[in-house]
Amino acid sequence: MLNRRRQLFVALGVALMLVLGAGAVAAADDVESDTGDVSQVQQMDNETTDLPVEPPTEVSHPGYEYIRQEGDTEEKIELGEQLFLDPRISETGTISCNTCHNVMEGGDDSRPTAMGVHGQTGPVASPTVWNSGFHHTQFWDGRADTLAEQAEGPLVADVEMGMPDHEAALDRIRSVPGYVESYEEVYGDEAESTDPDDLITLERTVDAIAAYERTLVTPNSPYDQYVEGDEDALTEQQLDGMETFQELGCQSCHSGPMFSGQWEEPESGEGVYQPHPTFRENEQCQEYVEEYGLMDNPGRMGVTDDAADEFLYKVPTLRNVEHTAPYMHTGQVETLEDAIRVMAACSLDEEVSDEEVEDIHAFLTSLTGEYPDQEMPRLPNPSGESMIPMDADTEFEDMEEEPEEDMENDIEENGADDEEVEDTPGFTIGAAVLALALVLATALIGYNRRTEQ
Ligand code: HEC
Ligand code: HEC
Repeated sequence: MLNRRRQLFVALGVALMLVLGAGAVAAADDVESDTGDVSQVQQMDNETTDLPVEPPTEVSHPGYEYIRQEGDTEEKIELGEQLFLDPRISETGTISCNTCHNVMEGGDDSRPTAMGVHGQTGPVASPTVWNSGFHHTQFWDGRADTLAEQAEGPLVADVEMGMPDHEAALDRIRSVPGYVESYEEVYGDEAESTDPDDLITLERTVDAIAAYERTLVTPNSPYDQYVEGDEDALTEQQLDGMETFQELGCQSCHSGPMFSGQWEEPESGEGVYQPHPTFRENEQCQEYVEEYGLMDNPGRMGVTDDAADEFLYKVPTLRNVEHTAPYMHTGQVETLEDAIRVMAACSLDEEVSDEEVEDIHAFLTSLTGEYPDQEMPRLPNPSGESMIPMDADTEFEDMEEEPEEDMENDIEENGADDEEVEDTPGFTIGAAVLALALVLATALIGYNRRTEQ
């Protein structure tokens, strides 16, 4: 216990120094920040023992300055935002990072598993990009260390943006004069020349995207206000839930201000992994495993090939978790209540009452912070020509050849029902016009024949 205390102290000290350092850098730079330097320091040093219920962390959300990197300028962030939101960098011109990580909402796609080009789905759920700059590693299994390294994957993954290779993706960007100008502005000093081939590299592309992603932070949740001393920031039920959360031991994994066990060394590659499920003999857990496919994937073992890493996952953040349903890496758990039940049974071997579940649910909603406003940027556009090649949708022809039954299923899955088609006035008017034209044509041919005779 003493040892943990000391570790915490050292960690807090390091964090404080880091924040002070970052604050000094920020003061010297003109990038705007919503969280002032002074409040940063206060956030790190909260006196929480006097609060009605002692919270699981003494540290509130560390804010943007904590993860901001040198060189994250306004121009770079803006370029990264454009790239993040640009679907034209995908094979079909339809899928952007934002398709699966919607920053207008919870930073995910609300789907069980993500859907990329040609409607193809991958094996796991899209995690949120909000606060992803605080993670030590990226992906459920931690196979990328940094945000920049992570961003290389989706561009060429065939179930995501589906570009045949990175050069093809870069060529799309190089074809837009507006992008060339932005890269020149941001990276001109370090580039060998202003030739788009030299200027627009994969490294710079993912660097800009990562700089934008780091700005996706949500501080100042009711929980943070409480930790900072506002006794009234949480409701009675949320306080009860916070107590139950701690009594059960949820914070043993979901620790620290990001509730993910990892925050002190953002993007360091030092992941915090935990087995899931832990209590595989628990009967209730066995049912969940079956129902939600919780042991269908290898987890961290898929990266390390080490049997000891089987079913290990990065502890996900619980920040804004009310907005990221469905849950777990398989995305099969539909509600937050059920996710809490799964955790209690599988990670803690505990039975929880409906009331406890409701209380914890209420507490988790107190982790929803302030989302910074996202304004749709203008994307640069080449003059008079398309960025997407004319044959980019060839594979759709294959889909049209699917048997009719399958097509019907697809349509149902997409939420369009048959009635809608029948009710469409355009449809019946079209048919009437066609019939009238046929009648007229027959009459004309008949008239023609008769006059010829
Ligand atoms: C087709 C949907 C899709 C697209 C497009 C997509 N992603 Fe993802 N993203 C996912 C899925 C699914 C995962 C989880 C994969 C895994 O862990 O194996 C993920 C993981 C991530 C993570 C890791 C988050 C965490 O908590 O570990 C980040 C960051 C991310 N994506 C950013 C991006 C960026 C940047 C782009 C665009 C270059 C992008 N994504 C495009 C679906 C998508
Ligand atoms: C032994 C470590 C551990 C403990 C204890 C633990 N969790 Fe988790 N939690 C995890 C891991 C690992 C995952 C990811 C599992 C997966 O995707 O298969 C997770 C996932 C979650 C999710 C889903 C997040 C998402 O984005 O899909 C929620 C919600 C959650 N935990 C809440 C809780 C609550 C509430 C408790 C206490 C009742 C708890 N956890 C206890 C490790 C733990």
